[in-house]
Amino acid sequence: MTVSFFDKQIDRIGTWAEKYEARQTVFGRADVEPLWVADMDFATPPFVINALTERLAHPVLGYTQAPEAVAQSVCDWQLRRHDWQTQTQDLVWLGSVVSGLYLAVQALTQPDECVMVFTPVYPPFMKAVIDNSRQLVTVPLLNINQRYQLDFTAIESYMCSRNITLLLLANPHNPSGRVWSKETLNTLAGLCLKYHVKVVSDEVWSDLILDQRTKHIPFASICADISAQTVTLGSTSKTFNLAALQTGYALITNAVLRQKFRRQHTLTRASEPNLLGLHALQAAYSDDGVRWLADLLMYLHGNLALVASELSGSGVDMMMPEASYLIWLDFTQRFEAQSDLVRWCVDVCSLGLSSGTHFGEVGKGFMRLNMALPRSRLALALASLKSL
Ligand SMILES: Cc1ncc(COP(=O)(O)O)c(C=O)c1O
Repeated sequence: MTVSFFDKQIDRIGTWAEKYEARQTVFGRADVEPLWVADMDFATPPFVINALTERLAHPVLGYTQAPEAVAQSVCDWQLRRHDWQTQTQDLVWLGSVVSGLYLAVQALTQPDECVMVFTPVYPPFMKAVIDNSRQLVTVPLLNINQRYQLDFTAIESYMCSRNITLLLLANPHNPSGRVWSKETLNTLAGLCLKYHVKVVSDEVWSDLILDQRTKHIPFASICADISAQTVTLGSTSKTFNLAALQTGYALITNAVLRQKFRRQHTLTRASEPNLLGLHALQAAYSDDGVRWLADLLMYLHGNLALVASELSGSGVDMMMPEASYLIWLDFTQRFEAQSDLVRWCVDVCSLGLSSGTHFGEVGKGFMRLNMALPRSRLALALASLKSL
């Protein structure tokens, strides 16, 4: 694979791409450069497209049962990429990772119980709690020199004083791209064990590790006790740009938790595995996938270096992501009102970024930029941001 694969300009207009089609509604202008929805403007890998094309050569698209071999490819991938041993019996197929968040909240908590999240965070974490009428407890992350850290004092004091039975953890973190260290996860696991807090670890970003000094640690891999109270969510959607195929999975080693989760899946008639998504997943979780991912990460590295160098000294601060293709931009020194910041991005820079307050109150003064696009277009976007 040559780097030019990622440099290729692909016109997504007219392909029903949300990132493009929803611009008028979201930004009031249909011509902003869309750097918001978390998918990539790169082609889905050719070997995945080939697998889909091959399957589509057969003309019947009926009800599907995922074969054991596809579940095995998930387990093999987790072992290969993250040194985490799982079994196919642990796996529950999902239509999406977000549906897994909702199912976990419904299955593992009662309406009077509290669910903890660390803010800022991917908005459906908060919505899954609120929509299901559970009590949301938000613990702001500490921003230490543009690196988020968990506030263990606050976490423990809430765990002591409130009826917290579930934690939703973004591991790695969206929006900042922080990879939580082993030490951090160990301490968090200790608190969850002490206060009997179950955990949903959303690991959808775990393959996109940009900083080789860090390593993704599956939360459930910390120890058998924590694995017994953890639901891990994963997908090929971010890594291989397959979000439209809506195929994700939960890995749950504890049979009782898994049974509750499955029961809720049945009760809500949550979606069944998607035929094309399963074929895509099997093609992606392969030797070809490993090679393609290495090229993707190299390209994203280059994009990140460009963002860092262009924004350096520009007055726009950023958090250096260790994972993902998302960059959390800090305008707190420049704008008082979030609405002014949002308008400035749209009206002056012609950029469609995600507004920080969507990720919780503590996101005020921040915007999230998606850097997964050809470098030449990214460079133009950065040039307009520097006009501050
Ligand atoms: C942390 C996190 N979880 C889940 C998702 C969405 O996953 P899915 O499309 O499978 O619901 C995203 C998308 O950005 C995400 O950042």
